[in-house]
Amino acid sequence: MSEESRHPFLKGLSKHRGAQPTIITIFGASGDLCARKLVPAIYNLAVDNLLPADFYLIGYGRKPIPDEEFREVCTEAISKFSRRKLDKDIWKRIEEHTYYCSGGYDELAAFEKLKAKIDSIEKDLGRAAQSVCYVSTPPSVFEPIIKNLGACGLATKYQETDKHTKVVVEKPFGKDLASAQNLNRVIQGVFQERQVYRIDHYLGKETVQDLLVQRFANSIFEPLWNRQYVENVQITVAESLGVGTRGGYYEQSGATRDMIQNHTMQLLALMAMEPPSSLNAESIRDEKVKLLKAIEPLNTDYANPDVIRAQYDEGLVDGLKVPGYRQEQGVSTESETETYCALRLNINNWRWQGVPFYLRSGKRMSRRVTEIAIQFKRPPSTLFSKNESLSLASNTLVYQIQPDEGSTVLLNAKIPGLQTRTQPVKMHFKYSTTFGSNTPEAYERLVLDAMIGDGTLFIRGDETEASWNLITPLHEFWASEGRRGMEAYTSGSWGPRAADRMLWANNDEWRRP
Ligand code: NDP
Ligand code: BG6
Repeated sequence: MSEESRHPFLKGLSKHRGAQPTIITIFGASGDLCARKLVPAIYNLAVDNLLPADFYLIGYGRKPIPDEEFREVCTEAISKFSRRKLDKDIWKRIEEHTYYCSGGYDELAAFEKLKAKIDSIEKDLGRAAQSVCYVSTPPSVFEPIIKNLGACGLATKYQETDKHTKVVVEKPFGKDLASAQNLNRVIQGVFQERQVYRIDHYLGKETVQDLLVQRFANSIFEPLWNRQYVENVQITVAESLGVGTRGGYYEQSGATRDMIQNHTMQLLALMAMEPPSSLNAESIRDEKVKLLKAIEPLNTDYANPDVIRAQYDEGLVDGLKVPGYRQEQGVSTESETETYCALRLNINNWRWQGVPFYLRSGKRMSRRVTEIAIQFKRPPSTLFSKNESLSLASNTLVYQIQPDEGSTVLLNAKIPGLQTRTQPVKMHFKYSTTFGSNTPEAYERLVLDAMIGDGTLFIRGDETEASWNLITPLHEFWASEGRRGMEAYTSGSWGPRAADRMLWANNDEWRRP
């Protein structure tokens, strides 16, 4: 049986095999993301026969690394991180087309050398090739890289044709509204918007894409998807991991910049936006922007705040004792950086006004889980005696984004017996049962989409600005408050009590995922 017929993900994608010759250059190729995600993604695309026949990989970084050494690093990365075992024959075809260019990110002469390398590959090939420039460095050097891609002529190469250069920009896209606006200006000064792919890897997750299908390919949900029927919506993006070796980065970022501004807000936008007029990139992005702009500014008043921030203390995770955040490597003992953030949002539009949306994300929480739970209003109790009606649970629709991908509906059912007693029961759909396991990683889909020029699962400049517009006042407020209002939670728990109180104020409570 061919791989294509075994996995539904691959159906219909074979048409991309004939895609034009492509040269991917990864800036920051000696880094963590390149090894853990990007090279394995490229390898798995090769296994699925989704790369063009003429495919080239160039790593770029400051330290000189011979081509041979970079090839070895890539081979090791595949052996260690790929979801499928290294098949040397498949990898060899790409390995032979893998090179390394070194130079500073602000060094124009080095970018000119890179362009010369790309030109010489095309010359040997005897055909034009599109360039995909993947910016996988810390954000501090996004700007010089973009400017040098313009200055060396790569940005405008084949600009008016379908072989135009594409630039993929990693997150975080800025650190506040002003810096995101500035980065957008820099990018737009060099590239046309259709060349730009701002990445949020959550959009590449199969289950996140499935949200659109669940919502708009089924007719039973839409009539219920509004303030008449929905009591509240809860989006949880919890990790059991701590900051690990990324303390230096995380101190500048915190949960709100690292997870809420991007991944969590994207889940919210897809869940709550209006139906787009088509599934093309612009229609979907237009709806997401409209939704993000409809969110009311957050109230930071300590008496009844819409936001709770907290840091993890030491505790037990998976049975192991772990240190508190301020004892982690690279973290200040006086740190004012939040590792947990919970928000209560009001979306001021016709569909959602008055429905609280609760978002939370944190490190070192009880377990790794990402889910969207839609809690419906309780049914009227006329058919049941007063006491029994009290035990009627709300119907809840839960999308499990990860792990255990799937969805669940909680319904009230009759407990067998002579009395009429009810109990919540679950109706499950599990991805792995229906479609098999070994689902492609988000980065596979996103690297492929950038290569074939499909921006649907990437973020437009105004989307990221709309999201920063909500979050930036929070950071300004926190900066003025120091550690005031910083809550604590035990590692391995579901977050601080203050986050529970925020929901109790609305007579709601967090679901236990
Ligand atoms: P790294 O810290 O590993 O940096 C990548 C490379 O950039 C380094 O190998 C180094 O290459 C260069 N670099 C590092 N620090 C600097 C600096 N201060 N100035 C200039 N160059 C520097 O980052 P990651 O690979 O972890 O992440 C890359 C990007 O992807 C970031 O924007 C990150 O936010 C984003 N991201 C990462 C994820 C992950 O899991 N790692 C997940 C989601 C997003 P050299 O010295 O060879 O030039
Ligand atoms: C990244 C964050 O964007 O997403 C990390 O920088 C986080 O801090 C990661 O751990 C989570 O991604 P995933 O796909 O493992 O949920």
